[in-house]
Amino acid sequence: ARKIIIDTDPGQDDAVAILLALASPELEVLGITCVAGNVPLTLTALNARKVCELAGRADMRVFAGCDRPMARDLVTAEYVHGKTGLDGIELPEPRMALDEQHAVDFLIETLRAEPEGAVTLCPLGPLTNIATAMERAPDIVPKIAEIVLMGGAYFEVGNVTPAAEFNIYVDPQAADIVFKSGVPLVVMPLDVTHQVLTTRPRIETLRALGTRVGHAVASWTDFFERYDMAKYGSQGAPLHDPCVIAYLLQPGLFSGRHVNVEIETGSELTLGMTVADWWRVTDRPANAMFMGDVDAEGFYALLTERIARL
Ligand code: BDR
Ligand code: CA
Repeated sequence: ARKIIIDTDPGQDDAVAILLALASPELEVLGITCVAGNVPLTLTALNARKVCELAGRADMRVFAGCDRPMARDLVTAEYVHGKTGLDGIELPEPRMALDEQHAVDFLIETLRAEPEGAVTLCPLGPLTNIATAMERAPDIVPKIAEIVLMGGAYFEVGNVTPAAEFNIYVDPQAADIVFKSGVPLVVMPLDVTHQVLTTRPRIETLRALGTRVGHAVASWTDFFERYDMAKYGSQGAPLHDPCVIAYLLQPGLFSGRHVNVEIETGSELTLGMTVADWWRVTDRPANAMFMGDVDAEGFYALLTERIARL
């Protein structure tokens, strides 16, 4: 199985991504590292454990990491995810403890212990933990097999400012470090995630599984989609973060371009913008596989089949 570390700020869509990974034998989740993002760190670390227990995986190691971005104040998104970050269904207080180790120390220690190219990182929130680990221990950078992340936008531009996507906007300094690291990157921007909408039939199929997990996923998306449907008049909500895990399982669902992507860290107006050279108008070297399209039906078929296993 492919070894991964999920770095996350749950978030309903993060929660679905975690469930998808835990349901998939092709992946070995070494640990879940939590970061401040959608809601503050104490809540993301709590939510991650609730999701593990929902999946019957109280044995999973869950770590708390950075509680604020590298150089800015934290911006959260309760207006999307609710006060708890996981509004939509009440899950029991987790019995599993948070690991005592700091998420950044876990990342460094694990990458040092594993052979080069053995571990893939899957960031689903602001990149603070990953960039902090890279800064503190540059020797881990060449050991990372690949980083498959949710963040950024090109044609779809921004969801938190007119120019920026939330995960990159919250910690643009961290994103800049990761995008300049030289590690092979696969990026799932809004261009892709806005194609995997939680339409009625898709969600009813999940609810009809008749399982606790299927019910939880349907309840989360019912809550989560209110924001997008009201704001954009779309048919459902984008299931952003599960795209990262779906890519690891079925990369053929996605297509994109290997291009140069730079992060805006200076301008107030466009802070956190992912400047993707989609049309290759510069000679800046490609540093990321920037996705542009997804087979949404295939994505939901995969998701449903895996969620049914839990
Ligand atoms: C990203 O921001 C968060 O609200 C979601 O969990 C996702 O990771 C989408 O912009
Ligand atoms: Ca997220």
